[in-house]
Order: sequence, then C-alpha cells, then structure tokens
Amino acid sequence: MQTVARHFNSEASLFDARILKIVPHYREMLEALAAALPRPSRKKLRILDLGCGTGAVSFLVKNRFPNASLHCVDLVPNMLKLAAGKLRGFSGVTFEQADLRAYVPRGRYDAVVSSLALHHLATDAAKARMHRKIHRALVPGGVFANADITVSARGRLQAYYLAKWAEFIRRSYSEADIRRNYRRYQREDRPSVLLKELRELERIGFRRLEILWKYCNFVTYAAYK
Ligand SMILES: C[S@@+](CC[C@H](N)C(=O)[O-])C[C@H]1O[C@@H](n2cnc3c(N)ncnc32)[C@H](O)[C@@H]1O
Repeated sequence: MQTVARHFNSEASLFDARILKIVPHYREMLEALAAALPRPSRKKLRILDLGCGTGAVSFLVKNRFPNASLHCVDLVPNMLKLAAGKLRGFSGVTFEQADLRAYVPRGRYDAVVSSLALHHLATDAAKARMHRKIHRALVPGGVFANADITVSARGRLQAYYLAKWAEFIRRSYSEADIRRNYRRYQREDRPSVLLKELRELERIGFRRLEILWKYCNFVTYAAYK
C-alpha cells in the first residue's frame, strides 16, 4: 500500500492526462457510473466517493446533481488537493484523507461511488469488508456504483483482455512504457473476478445488480440495497 500511496502522491499532477491514455473509454465508463444514480426531483442526494483521486467522478456527479452533498475520501494528499481544486466552484463538498482499509463511513448515503480505486484493496476478503461497510452506510434503495478493472478467471480470456489493453495504450505510449505499466499493474493492482464479486455483493445483501458498461476487463456496475 505504501507503494500505491507513493506512486499517486508523486505523480498526482500527471494523473488526469495519463488516465485517458491508459484506461480505454475512461469518460464513457464514468458516464455509465453517473447513470446509476437515483434521479430525485427535490431530495438532496448524499453521496460518498471512495478513492476520489483528482475528483473526476465527483466533478461529474456534482455537475449532474449540484444540490447533492458529496464526501470525497482518498489516501493520498496530493490527489485530494487536486480534487479540491477541481471542485472549488461547488458547495456541499467535503474531503477526508483516510485509508479505505480502516475507513468506516460515518454518515448515511443515497449513493456510494468509486472508480478505479477498490482494486487496490489486496484481497477479495478486504474488498468484501469494504462492501459490507458500504452496504451498512447506504439507505434502503441506495446504490453502490463502481467502475473498476477486473480480471478473467480464464487464462485465455485474461490474455485477450491484456492484449486489447496494450493495444489501447500503444496509441499513446511506447512498448517500453507498456511493459512498465504492466509491471506496475502486477505490483499494485489486485482486480477481482467480476462474477465472483457480484455474487459476493448479493451475499452481503445487495438486492439488485446491474452491469451498466463493460469493455474487456473494465466494468461499471451498480448494486442497489
Ligand atoms: C486510479 S486512481 C482513481 C481516481 C479516481 N477515482 C478516478 O477514477 O479518476 C486510484 C485512487 O485510489 C486511491 N487509493 C488507493 N488505495 C487507497 C486506500 N487504501 N485508501 C484510500 N484511497 C486509496 C489512490 O490514492 C488514488 O487516488
């Protein structure tokens, strides 16, 4: 986890430009996440963004729901600083530096959103612990909307996904950069098998699951309480 924190802290200012070149259809993936949120006519939504990074999801959500109150959590100070800058034009946004492994949401939320963050939790058990905390924090009918990288349990398909991923990155980076990205992925990322994760969410008590978007190993899903 130290490695992850160091990486994001030292490269925070490069993140927004880089993520578009590393994650295929990043914007579309986040658009799908925003589509999962409830559309109240008057009610002020309470939203929690886990691993908010530089604030891309929060920014999208606040543009759609300017009245929403939004709490943004991340481990890395420099990422939070950039998020605060991106969201400075909005009211009702708060920030907290915390490690998700120990973090317990204090409020009650209509939606918990997260993008490309939970795969940093090291094991399926750690993810399930996080999912239980999310479930407890949601109001009945609330939604957990998550966009993240996953892994296929089938070697052949995983190889296909990785090849397609490399094909995308190759548009912007060299072969040496692709290899460097892959080494970092192996060191820092612990994606889960999607269907296993969805079954676990059902077991925890989420009642309705929806896959909103998927491209190879990248997915956006919603789990409703
Ligand atoms: C790939 S970035 C994604 C940022 C943002 N959600 C987005 O989609 O642009 C992953 C973020 O998760 C944060 N993160 C990783 N592990 C974390 C942990 N244990 N606790 C809190 N934040 C964590 C990192 O600091 C980083 O900002």
